[in-house]
Amino acid sequence: MTPLHDALIDDHRRLDRIFSEVGEATAAGADLRTIGEIWTRFGAALRRHLALEEDAIFPVLTRTHPDEISALCVEHHRIRTRLERLDMDVDLHLLRDPAVRSLIADLQAHARREDVGLYAWAEAELSPAEKRHMLTELDRQGLGEPGAAAHPQA
Ligand SMILES: [Fe+2]
Repeated sequence: MTPLHDALIDDHRRLDRIFSEVGEATAAGADLRTIGEIWTRFGAALRRHLALEEDAIFPVLTRTHPDEISALCVEHHRIRTRLERLDMDVDLHLLRDPAVRSLIADLQAHARREDVGLYAWAEAELSPAEKRHMLTELDRQGLGEPGAAAHPQA
């Protein structure tokens, strides 16, 4: 079985690749339809990732790491609020490169925080059944991304 810690970090890498596509498209001044399509894919993937962490990891780890989980919940709320604001910008054709770069930087900081804390704890503290559930869900989320293997070996 793939270690859960590695699979979660792979999922952050998968999201990173989609974030990069958004950044590249806005920086290159791609047409609005292309940016809209990439943005929709990015928003959906990110929301699924946040929901999976909240549904399958946070409830378990809040027992042993309550302060960190509540801090991560606040960060997730902030990320969703920014996504909604940028959804509107996309709809109004107002999405601009600096706003995307700023969101990407914040998401990368959030991912680094989870990589060293949350994900190591998840590997150590989730039960085998909880890990299997997470791995199945991560596989399911990774499928459907163009060119993405479920858990590529890096
Ligand atoms: Fe997160």
